[in-house]
Amino acid sequence: MAKEKKKTVFFCQECGYESSKWLGQCPGCRAWNTFVEEPAAASAAKTGGGHKSAGSQSKPTLLNEISMEAEARVSTSIAELDRVLGGGIVTGSLTLVGGDPGIGKSTLLLQMCQKLAEKGRRVLYISGEESLRQIKMRAIRIGSFTDSMQLYCETNLEEIEAQIQQEKPEVVIIDSIQTMYNESVGAAPGSVSQVRESTGVLLRLAKGLGISIFIVGHVTKEGTVAGPRVLEHMVDTVLYFEGDRHASYRILRGVKNRFGSTNEIGVFEMRTEGLVEVTNPSEYMLNGRPEGASGSVVSCSLEGTRPILTEIQALVCQSNFGLPRRQANGTDFNRVNLLMAVLEKRLHLQIGSCDAYVNIAGGIRISEPAIDLGIVMAVISSFRNRPVPEGVIAFGEVGLSGEVRAVSMAETRVREAVKLGFHTCILPQVCLNNMPQIEGIRLIGVKSVQDAAAII
Ligand code: TYD
Ligand code: MG
Repeated sequence: MAKEKKKTVFFCQECGYESSKWLGQCPGCRAWNTFVEEPAAASAAKTGGGHKSAGSQSKPTLLNEISMEAEARVSTSIAELDRVLGGGIVTGSLTLVGGDPGIGKSTLLLQMCQKLAEKGRRVLYISGEESLRQIKMRAIRIGSFTDSMQLYCETNLEEIEAQIQQEKPEVVIIDSIQTMYNESVGAAPGSVSQVRESTGVLLRLAKGLGISIFIVGHVTKEGTVAGPRVLEHMVDTVLYFEGDRHASYRILRGVKNRFGSTNEIGVFEMRTEGLVEVTNPSEYMLNGRPEGASGSVVSCSLEGTRPILTEIQALVCQSNFGLPRRQANGTDFNRVNLLMAVLEKRLHLQIGSCDAYVNIAGGIRISEPAIDLGIVMAVISSFRNRPVPEGVIAFGEVGLSGEVRAVSMAETRVREAVKLGFHTCILPQVCLNNMPQIEGIRLIGVKSVQDAAAII
């Protein structure tokens, strides 16, 4: 009687943790209420995901004998994308491009396909989300395509696998992994087991045939690709495409890269004719900065190896309520609170009863502590209602005793400031020790927030 009972297992949608019963909190990633029930057959199929195909025999090889030719990189002709990929697409790599819906993932990849097809690379764009006509409409906005670009609307992974094996394209785009399904897995498309199994199949194709595959993955409200942190482990490279919906710029961030450095960013602007590269993000971020306003300071943060100047704004005013309001946009709220406490204690600034708002202009998010000094100076400037002079930039990490600590690659930051016409740079004193002579800028070393406050 009970033999017909279907076996099911439970998966955490966040990290893919598997359990035989439902759990309120995931032991793997500590997320609450993320378990969903899926057919058990899925878990059996899953084990086959990363395995080698039966025919291939593998044995140990001498490291020195491995040929590097297969790992050659193909430039995408989009410099910002190449930078994040670590110099181009690696043959046989699997790349995940994550991001909120509507941020521009499909547009970016379509533009990449256009450039690759122009160079004669055989490209296959597989979409499970849009019809051929819809993609064509988008393609028309972007520009013209050569004949080495093929489109394929399909969600059945077996069909896709057969097509790829037959066509053997050089680059394949899967848009998106959440729409793909494998008949051998009983679960719905987008479920943990489907996504995991589909990625396993694609991984095998990429490595086996030497095809570079790009997978588009949607992000859930928690900010991880739906279902699958599992997926992040399986792929070679993880890129996130992010940006403020209300602003037109977009940032492509490398989160994981087996072939290059992570934390590199690429900056794009979404225009009516598609994404356009922003080669000088600092200039872009500083656009429209107010002149002679109190509470506005330019600081420099490093994204990967790239310095980006941003305007930090602070507004400090007397609170009308017992509990002052504090708000931080584009940076860590707790960090701002901590810096305010440092100012109160070390400079005896009476800001405890003040409302304070800190904002990184332009909508970019910065978590690097190097902008601490910028935040501190913006707050002091707003509190005293005295503007920081034009052409001044400040960076440095601020410690709990009010000391200004060294930051990495100070020289790179100073050079970026010179490039954008700044004439004075306030930076940690220790950074001056091995700083070469730089033309066109005055360097002021500070040891503590007291030193910095004296300048305003
Ligand atoms: P899309 O690439 O479809 O996003 P995703 O694949 O990440 O869901 O981008 C859609 C948005 O981009 C849409 O809101 C319109 C905008 N867009 C432009 O502004 N200009 C363009 O040329 C294109 C193609 C899209
Ligand atoms: Mg899309």
